[in-house]
Amino acid sequence: MVDTRTQPVPKSGVESHRFAEKDLYRLAEKHGTPYYLIDEATLRRKVNEIEQAFQEFKGAFRVAYSMKANFNPSVIRIFVGEGILFDITAPSELYFLLKCGGTPENVLYTSITETLAEYDSVLKLGVRRIVVASHNGLNNLIEAAGRAEAEVEVMVRVNPEVHVKAELRGSLKHGKFGMQLDGDNQDAALPVLKKILSTPGLKFEGFHFHLGSQVEDQECYAEAIEKLEGFILRARKEIGEFGVNTIDIGGGLPVSYGRVVPTPKDLGTKIVGQLNSLMESLGVKFTLVAESGRYLSAEAMILVSRIVNVKDFGENRYVYLDAGYNVLLDAALLKHEYPVEVIPGGPSTYPKTVLVGRLCDPLDIFPTSSRSKLGGAETGKLVVFRDAGAYSIVMNMPFHSQPKPCVLMRNAHGNYLMARERQDVHALFLEEGGNLLDGKPSTD
Ligand SMILES: Cc1ncc(COP(=O)(O)O)c(C=O)c1O
Repeated sequence: MVDTRTQPVPKSGVESHRFAEKDLYRLAEKHGTPYYLIDEATLRRKVNEIEQAFQEFKGAFRVAYSMKANFNPSVIRIFVGEGILFDITAPSELYFLLKCGGTPENVLYTSITETLAEYDSVLKLGVRRIVVASHNGLNNLIEAAGRAEAEVEVMVRVNPEVHVKAELRGSLKHGKFGMQLDGDNQDAALPVLKKILSTPGLKFEGFHFHLGSQVEDQECYAEAIEKLEGFILRARKEIGEFGVNTIDIGGGLPVSYGRVVPTPKDLGTKIVGQLNSLMESLGVKFTLVAESGRYLSAEAMILVSRIVNVKDFGENRYVYLDAGYNVLLDAALLKHEYPVEVIPGGPSTYPKTVLVGRLCDPLDIFPTSSRSKLGGAETGKLVVFRDAGAYSIVMNMPFHSQPKPCVLMRNAHGNYLMARERQDVHALFLEEGGNLLDGKPSTD
């Protein structure tokens, strides 16, 4: 019943998952459009691909899932079942993880805000590994750890300030994330490291960096590791020997999106030798962690929408969908091009087909190129956006009073399950304040 054909993408070796057209139409009739559809087998395969890529590493290797990419509970539960770690950034993400059967032992907590309240809350729930990125953050952690009477493993998040070629850059002058390796103020890596090493109740665990998302030139990882090694050697000279149990190289593994991009294996080939030498030069065996959100989730999900109108304007054909950037925000925000396909396809008879969303906003146009297959676009047909599993449903918004679409999942047995129900317009109305139409006494 289920067609599991896969389409090889040249060189990268990445498979983009396929569903049978008749199944997509059947699901559209049953559940309406737009809808998202996740494939469990692809989620699991992605974990395995990353693990395989680092097989030559001589220490332990762990994959972590960055929940920010897709926090659908069914997705989280599958990754919990894979026994991997979780990169978590907010107490609310921890709530999701624990509800889905995850355990605090498998959490790497990497906050942006590093507040006392946040550390109080996650330590109370049993998290014991925290990544710090500022002097104030460390002080908050010390106070929270004292209150919780907890021994905490602390990692130092650095920004190696290397040039990153990526869709989203997290290094170089992006000082929002991490600490300077050679800075001389209290927020630089060295004073923070010293304080961790000298604070009872804290155990220094290792280093963390995150260079960006959709990193297409992997040289920056090698440069970052080299800079980190230099820092560790300098720090040891100044403050004496200290161990390094974990090095976390963050996320950024790129997704093909129909193009040729480096694979996890390419990254492994590039940096595993360097990491093995680093272990030798430091005289320690550390655990290597790769945190991925995009690579683990993107190819496992498609967005299915319907063509609701077509219009000729000059030589161009405008194709109107019942979906807009409210369900695929990066299309507008980053001009991100998802591989798009009209199904069933047909010949292209127009010089240009413009795929537009249903929102009353000139920005609501889906970027397409010759990689998209738009021939045969007619009212009533379905349009599939592939590789849409990362940073999509997590950014759903109700612009134009649009309820959230449903999320379906094809499980490992080929059965289709509901993973998030379509939001009812009345539920949205209430959520937006419809339950307070007649006002409610203010609490102040
Ligand atoms: C600290 C950290 N780790 C990992 C990731 C995941 O990145 P990606 O989805 O590109 O793998 C992010 C994304 O923002 C991040 O901030």
